[in-house]
Amino acid sequence: FELPILAPSILASDYTKLGEEITTCTDAGVKWIHCDVMDGHFVPNISYGPAIVEAAGRASDAFLDVHLMIENPDQYIEAFADAGADQLTVHQEACPHLHRTIQSIKQQDMMAGIAVNPATSLTTIEPILEYVDLVLIMSVNPGFGGQSFIENTYQRLKDMSIIRENKQLGFLIEVDGGVGIDNIEKVTRSGADVLVAGSSVFKAKNITKSIEDLTKRARM
Ligand code: DX5
Ligand code: ZN
Repeated sequence: FELPILAPSILASDYTKLGEEITTCTDAGVKWIHCDVMDGHFVPNISYGPAIVEAAGRASDAFLDVHLMIENPDQYIEAFADAGADQLTVHQEACPHLHRTIQSIKQQDMMAGIAVNPATSLTTIEPILEYVDLVLIMSVNPGFGGQSFIENTYQRLKDMSIIRENKQLGFLIEVDGGVGIDNIEKVTRSGADVLVAGSSVFKAKNITKSIEDLTKRARM
């Protein structure tokens, strides 16, 4: 994939025309689709599960980037593999046996990501970094679309890039929450390789144009 990667989150899409909106994205050049799974326990909101992920997969051949904001993710790894997820990202805060969880994801032939909430120290994931394909730095408190970007995320992205360089690792750095046309350039410059965008893509008047604008600005 050419970096940076724009990953529209279908959390903000119109579910009555999910397939159509996904193909609008892929026609505009989108390579990754981000799916936000929420359980009402780990986060104070419920979104959708494997059935919608499976439907999103049938709509296009985009890479399915599935972000699990759920407790006990181990219990659902197989279900999301069967649903066609290409990558599963679990939260550090939800996984007491993180190494085991990451191994289980890989055993199901998926890429494995680790997410950290805004108040979680990056040092808590250092021992797992050599085993993951992606680190997701949350730029909002997970649970809802449409929140505003937390400013210290820029520094956290820079810090994670430095850690990656020092350890000579190759994982991707993803950012999620409050990314839009006014900050996407700074977010990319701070070190993000994958940019999740929900509202700024799907709540725009013209999805195609918003994708073009975001992509252009991200590459500046
Ligand atoms: C937040 C989700 C995000 C969210 C991003 O809990 O993980 O992926 O959908 O939405 P926006 O871009 O609207 O902040
Ligand atoms: Zn997400």
